[in-house]
Amino acid sequence: MKPLFILFALFFPPIHTLASTQEADSLLKWKTTLINQNNPFLSSWSLDTNRTASTAPCTWYGVHCNDHGNVIKLNLSTSRLNGTLQKFPFSTFASLTHLQLKLNHFSGPIPVDIRYLSNLMFLDLSCNRLSGTIPPEIGTLAYLETLSLHSNILEGHIPVTLGNLTNLAHLAIDDNKLSGHIPRELGNLAHLVTVNVSFNFLTGHIPSSLGNLSKQSELYLFQNNLTGSIPLSLGNSSSLRILYLYMNQLSGRIPNELGNMKSLIALLLGHNLLTGSVPASLGNLSKLTILDVHENLLSGVVPQELGKLESLIQLSFSHNELSGQIPVSIGNLTKLEQLYLNDNQFKGSIPEELGNLNSLVEMLLLINRLTGSIPDSFGNLSKLEQFVLHDNNLTGYFPESITKCERLRYLTLGNNSVTGRVPESVCKLKLLEILDLGTNRFSGPIPQCVSRFSPKLKVLDLRLNGFHGSIPTTYLDRNNDLRRVNMNGNRLEGSVPESLINCRKLEVLDLGNNMLTGGFPHWIDTIPELQVLVLRGNKLNGPLQTYSNAKSPFPKLRILDLSSNEFTGRLPGNYFKNFKAMMSGNRSASEDLYMVRHFMYEDTLVLVVKGMSMELQRILVVYTTIDLSVNNFEGEIPDTIGQLNSLRFLNLSYNGLTGEIPKHLRNLALLESLDLSSHKMTFLAVVNFSKNQLRGVIPKGGQFNTFVNSSYQGNEGLCGFPLTKTCGDDDGSSSPTLEEDEEDSSFFNGLSWESVVMGYGFGMLIGSGLGWLMFYTGRPRWVVRMTERKLCRHEIKSLKNTRARVSSVSDVNSAMSF
Ligand SMILES: *[C@@H]1O[C@H](CO)[C@@H](O)[C@H](O)[C@H]1NC(C)=O
Ligand SMILES: *[C@@H]1O[C@H](CO)[C@@H](O)[C@H](O)[C@H]1NC(C)=O
Ligand SMILES: *[C@@H]1O[C@H](CO)[C@@H](O)[C@H](O)[C@H]1NC(C)=O
Ligand SMILES: *[C@@H]1O[C@H](CO)[C@@H](O)[C@H](O)[C@H]1NC(C)=O
Ligand SMILES: *[C@@H]1O[C@H](CO)[C@@H](O)[C@H](O)[C@H]1NC(C)=O
Ligand SMILES: *[C@@H]1O[C@H](CO)[C@@H](O)[C@H](O)[C@H]1NC(C)=O
Ligand SMILES: *[C@@H]1O[C@H](CO)[C@@H](O)[C@H](O)[C@H]1NC(C)=O
Ligand SMILES: *[C@@H]1O[C@H](CO)[C@@H](O)[C@H](O)[C@H]1NC(C)=O
Ligand SMILES: *[C@@H]1O[C@H](CO)[C@@H](O)[C@H](O)[C@H]1NC(C)=O
Ligand SMILES: *[C@@H]1O[C@H](CO)[C@@H](O)[C@H](O)[C@H]1NC(C)=O
Ligand SMILES: *[C@@H]1O[C@H](CO)[C@@H](O)[C@H](O)[C@H]1NC(C)=O
Ligand SMILES: *[C@@H]1O[C@H](CO)[C@@H](O)[C@H](O)[C@H]1NC(C)=O
Repeated sequence: MKPLFILFALFFPPIHTLASTQEADSLLKWKTTLINQNNPFLSSWSLDTNRTASTAPCTWYGVHCNDHGNVIKLNLSTSRLNGTLQKFPFSTFASLTHLQLKLNHFSGPIPVDIRYLSNLMFLDLSCNRLSGTIPPEIGTLAYLETLSLHSNILEGHIPVTLGNLTNLAHLAIDDNKLSGHIPRELGNLAHLVTVNVSFNFLTGHIPSSLGNLSKQSELYLFQNNLTGSIPLSLGNSSSLRILYLYMNQLSGRIPNELGNMKSLIALLLGHNLLTGSVPASLGNLSKLTILDVHENLLSGVVPQELGKLESLIQLSFSHNELSGQIPVSIGNLTKLEQLYLNDNQFKGSIPEELGNLNSLVEMLLLINRLTGSIPDSFGNLSKLEQFVLHDNNLTGYFPESITKCERLRYLTLGNNSVTGRVPESVCKLKLLEILDLGTNRFSGPIPQCVSRFSPKLKVLDLRLNGFHGSIPTTYLDRNNDLRRVNMNGNRLEGSVPESLINCRKLEVLDLGNNMLTGGFPHWIDTIPELQVLVLRGNKLNGPLQTYSNAKSPFPKLRILDLSSNEFTGRLPGNYFKNFKAMMSGNRSASEDLYMVRHFMYEDTLVLVVKGMSMELQRILVVYTTIDLSVNNFEGEIPDTIGQLNSLRFLNLSYNGLTGEIPKHLRNLALLESLDLSSHKMTFLAVVNFSKNQLRGVIPKGGQFNTFVNSSYQGNEGLCGFPLTKTCGDDDGSSSPTLEEDEEDSSFFNGLSWESVVMGYGFGMLIGSGLGWLMFYTGRPRWVVRMTERKLCRHEIKSLKNTRARVSSVSDVNSAMSF
C-alpha cells in the first residue's frame, strides 16, 4: 500500500493555494541568467505547462516547499548548471533552510546577499568554480549547521565571523586557495563535529582553542602551510576520532598529551618537520587504527608501548631518523596490514616476532641498517604481498620459508649480503612480479625454473652476485611479462639463450660482465620493446653484421653496450640505420623522462663513460649511447651513424677501424651539447676514436671542435683541428667560434650532464619516497569510504589545473610503466 501511496503523491501533488508566484518568477529570472538555460534538468522550470501557475515552483525540479507553499529547500546538485550566483534571488527566499548547489559549474563570487537566507541550516556550494573570498556575512546565518564550500577556487582568509555560527556541526572549506590563519574563534563552536580546512594555503599556528571542541570528532588540517608545534591542548579533546595534520610545516615534538585522546582512530602527522622521539604515551590510544608519522625528523628508539595498539592496521614510520632495534612488541599487532619502517636507521636483526603479524600485506624495511638473517617465521604470513628489504646489511641465506607466502608480489633483497644458493622453490611464488636479489653474495646456479615461473614476473635482477653456470634457457611461454632482466656481474657461461626471444616485452637486458661465449644474439633485434642491451665484458665473438630478417631491427634501442668482447667484422651499419630511438632528435620524451616508473624497483645500469664507470639508477629516456669499444671491429665507420642525432655517447675506441671519419658525424649535435655543459666535469671527449687506424682530415664544425687531442690518439693518419698535427694545407687554420657551437646545441639546453647526474639522485629519492607515496595511495578503504569526495574530484579535475596530486591508487598505477 505504502509505495502506491507515494507514487500517488508524486504524480498528484497537493495544490498549494499559497504557492508563491513571486518565488517562481524570481527563480525563472535567475534561470535566464544561466548560460545553459536550456539544460534539460530545468525543463520543468516553466509556467507554460498545464499546471496552474499557483503550484509553480513547488513542483519544479529540485524545489521543495513547506505546507504553506514556501520554498524551503532547493536542491540542484549535479545538474550541470553553468552560470553565477550573482542574480540568485536570495532576498526572496527567507524561508529557505537548505541550499544544495554542489557539483555544478557555478563561477564568480559568493554574493554577500546570501545573508538574507536567515533560516538557512544547510549550505552546500562545493565542487563548483566559485572564486573570490568567503563573505563574512555567512557568519550571520545563525542556524547554519552545515557549511560546505570545498573544492572551489576561493581565496582570502577564513572569516573570523564563522566563529559566530554557534550551531555549526560540519565545516568543509577544504580544497580551495584560502590563506591566512585558522581563526581562533572556531574553538568557540561547541557543536562542531567535522572541520575540514585541508588542501589550502593556510599559514600560522594551529589555534590551541581547537582543543576546546568537545563534540568534535574529525579534524582535517592537512596539506597547508601550518607552522609551529602541535598544540598540547589537543590532548584535551578526548572525543577526537581523526586528526590529520600531515603535509604542513609543523615542528617541535609530538606532545605526550596526544596519548590522552582516547577516541582517536587515525593520527596522521606525516610530512612535517617534527623532531624528538615518538612518545610512549601513544601506546595508550587503544582504538588507533592508523599511526603515520612518515617523513619527519623523528629520532630515538620506537617505544615498546606501541605494541599495545592492538587495533592498528597501518603503522608508518618511514623516512625519519629512528634508530635502535625494531621493537619486538610490534609482533603483537596482529591486525596490522601495513608496516612501513623504511628509510630510517634501524639496526639489529629483524624480530622473529614479526612473523606473527598474520594480517600483514606490506612490509617495507628497505634502507635501514638491519643485520642478521631473515627470520624463518615469515613463512606464516599468508597475506604478504610486499616484502621489501633492499638496502640493508642482512646476511644469512635466502629465506626459503618465504616461498610459502603465495601472494608475494614484490620480493626485494637487493643490496644486502645474503649468501648461498637461491632455492628452486622460489618458483612456487606464482604471483611474483619483482624478484630483486641483485648485489648480494648469492652463488651456485640460477634456478633453472626462473625462466618459466611466475607469468607475472616483470623484473628479474640477479646482478652482482656469484651465480655461475648457464643462463636458464627455456623461456617457453610467449605470454610472459618479463620487462627487465639484469644478470650483470656474475660468472655465467654459455651463450645467450635464444628462447629469450619469447620475452616480447623485454625492455632491458643486461648480461654484461660475465663469461658468455658464442656469437652476437642477432635474433634479439626483433624484440620490439628492447631499449637497453648490455653485453659488455663477455667473450662473445664473430661479426655483428647480420642478415636478420627483422624489417626494422631494434626499433626502440637507446643503449647498446657491446664493448670488451671479441666481435669482428665491420661495424653494423644496417643497425645504425634502424636505431629509430636514437634519431628522434627531439625532447618530447622528456615528459616521461625516466623509463622506469615503478616505485618498487629501479633499473641500475653501469655505463663506462670516458673511462669512468657511472651507475645510473634510473635510465633516462633521453639517454642514448653506443659503446662498441675494445673489440676487433675493422673497416670504415659507416655513414649511417651520422643519422643517430640523439646519440649522447659514442665510443668506438680500441678497434681496428680504418678510413675517414664520416662528415655526417657532425650531425650528432647532442654529443656536443653534453660536452659544452660539462664545465664542472672533465668529460670533454665523449667521442672516442682512439686506438684505431683512422686517417684523413677530422671533419670541422659541430661537436668535433670540442674534443681534445686524446680522443683521436693512436690514429696516426688523422690530422687537422683540434689535433695539434696539421694536415699541411689550409686545414687547422680556422677554428669556428664557440658562439656557433652554442647555437647549434640549443636543442639540449637545460639538460646537462649535471642533470643526468641529478636525475640519478632524483631516482634515489623517488625510490626511497615510496613509503609515503604508498601511504597516500594505499589508505585503508574505510578512510576513502568516509567521503564521497572522489566523484567531485573527478568532476572538477578538468576544470582545475591548480595543484596536481596523487589521489588514488589507480592514479599511481597509471603513472607506472607496468
Ligand atoms: C497539456 O494540455 C494539452 C491540451 O490541453 C495536452 O494536449 C497536453 O498533453 C498536456 N500536456 C501535459 C504535459 O499534460
Ligand atoms: C539532492 O538531490 C539528489 C538527487 O537529485 C539527492 O541524491 C540528494 O540526496 C539531495 N540532497 C539533499 C540535501 O536533499
Ligand atoms: C560555462 O560557460 C562558459 C561561458 O560560456 C564556458 O566558457 C564554459 O566552458 C562553460 N562551462 C562548462 C563546464 O560547460
Ligand atoms: C560575530 O563575530 C564578530 C567577531 O567575532 C563580532 O564582532 C560580531 O559582533 C559577531 N556578530 C554577530 C551578529 O554576532
Ligand atoms: C577533507 O578534505 C580533503 C581535501 O579536499 C578531502 O580529500 C577529504 O575527503 C575531506 N574529508 C572529509 C571527511 O570531508
Ligand atoms: C608554503 O610556504 C612556502 C614558503 O613560504 C612556499 O614556498 C610554499 O609554496 C607554500 N606552500 C603552500 C602549499 O602554500
Ligand atoms: C579554551 O579553554 C581554555 C581553558 O580550558 C580557556 O582558557 C580558553 O579561553 C578557551 N578558548 C576558547 C577559544 O574558548
Ligand atoms: C585541558 O583541560 C584542563 C581541564 O579542562 C585544563 O585545566 C587544561 O589547561 C587543559 N590543557 C590544555 C593544554 O589546554
Ligand atoms: C597510559 O594510561 C595509563 C592509565 O590511564 C597511565 O597510567 C599511563 O601513564 C599512560 N601511559 C603513558 C605512557 O602515558
Ligand atoms: C604481547 O602480548 C602478550 C599477550 O598480550 C603479552 O604477554 C606480551 O608481553 C606482549 N609482548 C610484548 C613484547 O609486548
Ligand atoms: C653495512 O655494510 C656496509 C658495507 O659492508 C658497511 O659499510 C656499513 O658500515 C654497514 N653498516 C652497518 C650499520 O653495519
Ligand atoms: C607458523 O604457525 C604455526 C601455527 O600457527 C606454528 O606452529 C609455526 O611454528 C609457525 N611457523 C613459523 C615458521 O613461525
